[in-house]
Amino acid sequence: MLWLKFIHICGVAIWVAGLIYLAALLVGHSTVRDQQDFARIRMASRFAYMGLVSPAGFIAVGAGSALLFVGDALHPWMFAKLAAVAVLAVAHVQYAYVLTHLAEEGAQQPTLRIRIIVIAVGAAACAIFYLVLAKPALDGAILPEWLSEPGFLKRSEDPAQAPSALQLPHRQ
Ligand code: HEM
Repeated sequence: MLWLKFIHICGVAIWVAGLIYLAALLVGHSTVRDQQDFARIRMASRFAYMGLVSPAGFIAVGAGSALLFVGDALHPWMFAKLAAVAVLAVAHVQYAYVLTHLAEEGAQQPTLRIRIIVIAVGAAACAIFYLVLAKPALDGAILPEWLSEPGFLKRSEDPAQAPSALQLPHRQ
């Protein structure tokens, strides 16, 4: 599924670059001189977030999830990668907060929140690229056993076969 991987990597590249570009755009917020400047930065950052970065994020995660189904990729490093992807998703949602509160924060120095977002995005993206490219042999023993048990989810839907740990307590 080379084409799917191509779509995944295009989405990922635009998503990560966009998350960092947004920070650069919002740093310009500290140098606004007038209302017109402020409106320009606000429009540019909202357009970048809604029109480019969010769709790219959806495409990256959607194509990545499809790749999980078509390939044999459920290795321990993939779970570490998904944890780093969760950091990117939290950073993405934090931008929504920053953009909605832009007017209230005023023309100050770039806020601490934006600095933390940039550091988190950079660290998570580097970790993901290391994990997918080096595919390190992490110890799968740290994962719960049911994660690698074929047919576990199907069996857990059947109350007769469900493991007792998953059964809901009956009301008396
Ligand atoms: C929910 C999110 C994601 C899922 C489910 C996912 C899943 C996958 C899967 C299954 C593959 C194929 C692995 C293989 O063929 O061995 C892959 C490849 C790749 N992913 Fe993701 N991914 C996600 C997000 C990301 C993100 C955010 C990045 C980068 C920041 C990324 C970077 C890559 C790269 C560079 C490859 C190509 C690796 C290679 O072919 O050697 N992925 N991804």
